[in-house]
Amino acid sequence: MLSASCKFVLIRGKILFMKITVLEGDGIGPEITSEAVKVLQAVGNIYDINFEISYAAIGGDAIRKFDTPLPQETIDVCLASDAVLLGAVGVPEFDTIAPEKRPEQGLLKIRKALGGFANLRPAKIYKSLADASPLRPEILGNNTDFLIVRELLGSIYFGEPRGYEENDGNRKGYNTMSYTVSEVERVAHIAFQAAQKRNKRLASVDKANVLETSRLWRETVINVAKSYPDVKLEHLYVDATAMMLVTNPNHFDVILTENMFGDILSDEASVLTGSLGMLPSATIGGKVGLYEPIHGSAPDIAGQNIANPCGTIASAAMMLRFSSEYQEAATAIENAIEKVLEQGYRTKDIARGGEFVSTVEMGELIVKAITENSASRSNSQTV
Ligand code: IPM
Ligand code: MG
Repeated sequence: MLSASCKFVLIRGKILFMKITVLEGDGIGPEITSEAVKVLQAVGNIYDINFEISYAAIGGDAIRKFDTPLPQETIDVCLASDAVLLGAVGVPEFDTIAPEKRPEQGLLKIRKALGGFANLRPAKIYKSLADASPLRPEILGNNTDFLIVRELLGSIYFGEPRGYEENDGNRKGYNTMSYTVSEVERVAHIAFQAAQKRNKRLASVDKANVLETSRLWRETVINVAKSYPDVKLEHLYVDATAMMLVTNPNHFDVILTENMFGDILSDEASVLTGSLGMLPSATIGGKVGLYEPIHGSAPDIAGQNIANPCGTIASAAMMLRFSSEYQEAATAIENAIEKVLEQGYRTKDIARGGEFVSTVEMGELIVKAITENSASRSNSQTV
């Protein structure tokens, strides 16, 4: 019998059990998460991992069913899991409702409830997708590969006071951008440690020429850097970074930045790699890891079986990497995505007007690649 406090049971190095909550969310969310679940089941069969998967409501889906974008029950089931895999949140029909009831509030609140403050967004060019990038080949090069570490629980997304007021018939909306030293320190440590495992270069991105928040951010990062003498630190303004991402993307190894700058820069980074649909993310540092593609709910293409599930499937790989011991299964998923792209299969967003496969077909192709890779591996082991 598994005890409730037991995260996973290890038998001869194998994870026997991992409890995952899937939050499908809105728009294309259900389609893309269902492909990721298929892929998890495939690696589960190969690597003897039993995934216990529960589903819970968030966003517009939850508003329709429970009149709130994040029911308490969803928080409870997520907190009782080893990891949470999320599709996407956002529905245009709720654009005009009270701000605290919007679908996006569900996403912000689950991020807060799970406590992960470091959102890792790797931007890696798959070589076979280089022609889907809007950048000229001589600018893109062939090894664009950097990691954005976005602070996820602070700044203007959560700062108080916020709201609207009206003076003499003139309405005003306002938000507060703020950071404490400890909030900056904890995410900076994650970024420096990530840089140590990569090419040991860290760009801390701020707007210290204008904002107090950014000056405190910069001072704090400089202090944290003393513990990582092997990492080369530079400071860049966010506007210059936006420009450098499209003029010299290979400049970057790890980018550390605050919540809103990270939101904006990661969308920019994603299209360099061919499509917003390709990029995964992992949110770590809290009680339970949260894994989600970086794109939105794409309501314009929802239900058409044309969305790209790769970002979500790659997020499932990150989930195994960061919330389980099972690195081999994570690598198997990543290799399978790469193989399917190398074989020339494309979803509509990366097909450049050519032939494309559906969401479901892409999921099935990745499952097939995982199965074939594992068969050829065990054959070569028995030879
Ligand atoms: C993201 C998204 C979200 C964010 C939205 C949907 C609230 O854009 O994950 O990047 O701004 O964080
Ligand atoms: Mg975003």
